[in-house]
Amino acid sequence: MKPSSFLYFARFGIKTILFRKKTPILGTVILTDKCNLSCKHCSVNNKNAVIHPYNQIKSEMKLLYNMGVRILFFCGGETFLWQDGSKTLRQLVIEAKEMGFLIVNVVTNGTFKLDLPEADLILLSLDGNKEKHNQIRGDTYDRIIDNIKNATADNICFYMAVNQINKDTIRHVCTLAKETGHVRAVSFNFHTPYPDTQNLALSREEKQTCCNVIAEMMNQGVPVFNLKSAFPYLIDNKFPTPCHQCVVIENGKISTCGRCIDVPGLCEKCGYFFVAEYTLLFQGNVKIMAEMLKTYLKYI
Ligand SMILES: C[S@@+](CC[C@H](N)C(=O)[O-])C[C@H]1O[C@@H](n2cnc3c(N)ncnc32)[C@H](O)[C@@H]1O
Ligand code: SF4
Ligand code: SF4
Repeated sequence: MKPSSFLYFARFGIKTILFRKKTPILGTVILTDKCNLSCKHCSVNNKNAVIHPYNQIKSEMKLLYNMGVRILFFCGGETFLWQDGSKTLRQLVIEAKEMGFLIVNVVTNGTFKLDLPEADLILLSLDGNKEKHNQIRGDTYDRIIDNIKNATADNICFYMAVNQINKDTIRHVCTLAKETGHVRAVSFNFHTPYPDTQNLALSREEKQTCCNVIAEMMNQGVPVFNLKSAFPYLIDNKFPTPCHQCVVIENGKISTCGRCIDVPGLCEKCGYFFVAEYTLLFQGNVKIMAEMLKTYLKYI
């Protein structure tokens, strides 16, 4: 991270904590809900299967920038399906940087060629070992591993949503993150149980076991892009929700925190690590602050 970006975020953090401000810093633009996969745990793919046009995406980016967002995520559906004429996802990342976003990340299922060196991080969903990942995501594991080998930059971070199917394969993903070229780290979420995927939710005890394993892996030097000090809050779902410093925009509609904000009762069962990490940070939790500083400077 550039020193100027670091100073910007530090100033934002101090102002937010001292004055209890609710202005956003992290924003997500949904490029499309179209997807080439239909994962067992996912409730957002192919609702309308629309790829949003370039002009719309560009004005959504400007809107988020003007709201104060400086950490931008492109998400979907599958982000690598996005194209409008000659415009590609890579162009969007370049234009986001030119617009002034300080960190630009892309979330992908990894089934397409990974040629995105301009992104700060490519969050690539890997949901366990070959057996469990394929059980959730169809027969895609080998293709993804191949794409990682042939990637054009070292900016990949595995992204694992831990659920009933893959909860015993955290060690596998950690080891792979440590040993695979082009992969910088791994980041976790717990399954967030939308009404149609409640069967995949983890119990408190299962979350505790998962966090113990992740912490053990961190102690063994696995690069984990999460904060250990947030684990107790995630296990008991006792972090504040929603996150007012995060916004998402999909087809012109802005939501605070996530598109899931409209699902009744879901926030109390939220499994997204970033929500716990950011809300605790902006509450002024000193342990979280110190660990976030160390972690962000290491991986971005
Ligand atoms: C909706 S996908 C979109 C980007 C891309 N298609 C992908 O799979 O990475 C973004 C991330 O959300 C995760 N995800 C989907 N449903 C989830 C849920 N109910 N709880 C937690 N994570 C979920 C996916 O595993 C993926 O890592
Ligand atoms: S690849 Fe991503 S968007 Fe597509 S179904 Fe899977 S989790 Fe959902
Ligand atoms: S806190 Fe609520 S809106 Fe935010 S990600 Fe979790 S479930 Fe979605």
